[in-house]
Amino acid sequence: MKRRLVAAALLLCMTAPLLKADEGMWLPALISQRIEDMQAKGFKLSAEDIYSVNQASLKDAVVLFGSGCTGELVSDQGLLFTNHHCGYSYIQKHSSVEHDYLKDGFWALSQADELPNPGLTVRFLERMEDVTAIILKGYKSKMTEDQRQALVKKNADKLKAQVEKEGNGIKASVEALYYGNQYFLFVFREYRDVRLVGAPPSSIGKFGGETDNWMWPRHTGDFSIFRIYAGPDNLPADYSADNVPYQPKRFMKISTAGVKEGDFTFVYGCPGSTQEYVHSEAVRYIQDVSDPEKIALRTTRLGIMKKYMDQSQAVRIQYSSKYASVANAWKKWQGEEKGLRKNRVVPVKQDYEARFEEWARGTRYAWLTEMLSNLYAQRNPIYRAYEYYNETVRAVEKIQKGMGRYVNPKDYYQPIDEEIFVAMMEAFDKALDDQYKPAYFLEKREEYNGDMVAWKNAVFANDDEAKALAVALDKHYAQEIVPKVKELSQAITLRYRDYMQGQMEFEPGKAFYPDANLTLRVAYGHVEGYSPADAIYYRPVSTLKGIIDKDNPDIFDYNIPQVLRDIYARGGFESQPVCFLATNHTTGGNSGSPVLNADGNLIGINFDRVWEGTMSDLVFDPEICRNISLDVRYLLFIIKEVGHAGYLFDEMEFAD
Ligand code: ARG
Ligand code: ASP
Repeated sequence: MKRRLVAAALLLCMTAPLLKADEGMWLPALISQRIEDMQAKGFKLSAEDIYSVNQASLKDAVVLFGSGCTGELVSDQGLLFTNHHCGYSYIQKHSSVEHDYLKDGFWALSQADELPNPGLTVRFLERMEDVTAIILKGYKSKMTEDQRQALVKKNADKLKAQVEKEGNGIKASVEALYYGNQYFLFVFREYRDVRLVGAPPSSIGKFGGETDNWMWPRHTGDFSIFRIYAGPDNLPADYSADNVPYQPKRFMKISTAGVKEGDFTFVYGCPGSTQEYVHSEAVRYIQDVSDPEKIALRTTRLGIMKKYMDQSQAVRIQYSSKYASVANAWKKWQGEEKGLRKNRVVPVKQDYEARFEEWARGTRYAWLTEMLSNLYAQRNPIYRAYEYYNETVRAVEKIQKGMGRYVNPKDYYQPIDEEIFVAMMEAFDKALDDQYKPAYFLEKREEYNGDMVAWKNAVFANDDEAKALAVALDKHYAQEIVPKVKELSQAITLRYRDYMQGQMEFEPGKAFYPDANLTLRVAYGHVEGYSPADAIYYRPVSTLKGIIDKDNPDIFDYNIPQVLRDIYARGGFESQPVCFLATNHTTGGNSGSPVLNADGNLIGINFDRVWEGTMSDLVFDPEICRNISLDVRYLLFIIKEVGHAGYLFDEMEFAD
């Protein structure tokens, strides 16, 4: 009896910390390890409903959309939802002055009106499996890291070729998990005829713009609708007018029952990149060096763009997409830096490392944290130079052109680029030691007496001068900077392979999930608000009333279409839900991911996180990390009331 109690208490100790936090991005094929916890928190389905290779499961209704977003199937005719910001570049390509679909939205009136998007693909996961033994076949412990990598590549290429022999759109990839302690094979089927079905006007799909990006309260109708087409055999085919809507093995049913605080939710999608198990020195570098320096550089760059964008509508259109992508990471880093400090992540990790070292004494894991610390001390200066190249000189479009890269003249405004040139060259020169600069740069600096404006005038007046500078910078970057960064990063990864394994042995009761790497994952949590600061509590659901409150024709980001004002004026829509918060652990790449309820039905589309919680790529704090989703009921509302495309409902299935 007593012994059983002790065992039960031990078990509790081991599982209690897991039950508290909603941290984690789990591999669907191993979800059976989490299913009890999911069910304890409210999930009503089984592991087989999430992932199965024997029968249709929810995984068959999720795709990797393009190269970095997620989408979900919502009808038996290949209808797909993703975010507006994931479909943005395709909507833009179809837009012209006569049909400005970005501005006005687009709704295909029939399947014949749906617009093809050359180059856009979606990937369904057929299966995933642990192939560590196959990938490491022939490995000997005395091999160098280079030899090991060559072996891994050879074995992986062979395996991929075997799998891809099948054809019919089958693609394979082998991914390292836990820094190469484990290898997984992912087999996809890739469809390449994906057509645009509908998108709201940007004033809905991008409502709040950069002002509200990464923020709560949020009111962005961030969705777009596509349809996957297949050959007559339902297999992938190049675009053809004869193709037919793809019939998925499974699609998601839509729940309009709504969400309330505490409801179970899970997100099924493709998170891109996280670093949850890194050394305190890696975090310290991000918090004290990388984030602040990159933020400052981008503040300057964005200021220059904005000055000209505010002066001219034409320039605003030219630069809106560039501005958005520069601003997106810029704003995220600010939240991340603050979050890391507030959570004292560096000292907490240092304390962990001290305990780890104590435990590791005399084992093969001894001194690992110290070795990592030394490696970071070696890597950081060169890595900083690498980041400076990317954020300064490589951010100048004239230099990009000089390197032979294509810069779309339609979206180029030279006065912006000239000003960015001067500011970024000055920052580059000031921040970096001369050893990180090419000899050509040092000579020219001398020639112009350090006067960047004079240098700029020469570069913009003379393409040969521009080219000479670009080539010199590019060569130095490619030959002196990148190889050293690679070499040190490889040495670091090698140590992490042991450190990762060591951490797992050090904390045998903890459930470890592999860092995100754009492979399919499940994150689960619940609807919940949060407190961003003392005395403030944010409720988890936003409504149409909030849009009307923000509406302001004089502020570009808050100028809603007249039709929305008219609809609201009709009355009865005050409490129309728009977005909601939940505790699911997500990151970039999860955009467009389905958000499902306890019954596995679609309640929302993930599109962002709250600013205060963006450090979740390094450490997840359940108090403050929240994902932001579009409430599927707002999507339905916009389709019907704004798009007048309610006929799309006929092919959807509603759960309640
Ligand atoms: N912050 C979101 C994500 O990281 C949305 C980005 C697109 N929207 C924007 N306003 N830039 O992708
Ligand atoms: N907005 C991100 C994306 O595009 C999602 C995130 O970072 O939370 O994937």
